[in-house]
Amino acid sequence: MEKPVIATDLELTDRSRQRIAALCARYPTRQSALMPCLWVIQDEHGWVPAAAVPYLVDALGVSEARVHELLTFYTMFRTEKPAKYVLQVCRNISCHLLGAREVIAHLEKRLGIRLGETTPDGRFALAGVECLGACGHGPVLQLGKHFYEQLTPARVDAILESLRRDVVPRADTDRLFEEDR
Ligand code: FES
Repeated sequence: MEKPVIATDLELTDRSRQRIAALCARYPTRQSALMPCLWVIQDEHGWVPAAAVPYLVDALGVSEARVHELLTFYTMFRTEKPAKYVLQVCRNISCHLLGAREVIAHLEKRLGIRLGETTPDGRFALAGVECLGACGHGPVLQLGKHFYEQLTPARVDAILESLRRDVVPRADTDRLFEEDR
């Protein structure tokens, strides 16, 4: 019987489609690739649009409920369009002892917002998070896959100045996707 075509408005680059196809081939079943495929979609869009659900139902043969289970359980998946640049600053104990409080205060002052807020133009959001796994290099800030370490107010200024020009500054560490390794 011919496979039904499920309409989806999800826009994906050829590169993302290739990554999803490669992930499907890597796992024992296509359904097992759901989590990394959600990452690929979030990597392209910055969040997981609603149109991703029918796309994944079709591409992976999973149920709609299964996609929603992962999207609502794991807090790293965003289901609402975020600010262009979401700055996540670690405020856990190691970073705190290394100066995170000063860095956060400086970010709040420079952006004119508090932790948990977004600038009125929708370009920057500031979030406090608990341990980014780089405790020896704090204070640490994460922007997407990019990690900026040993932050100081001067370095924060340089990062913000670059982002205001829409140039993502060179990171100390990039967290890679499984298939990027
Ligand atoms: Fe900040 Fe672990 S405490 S990265």
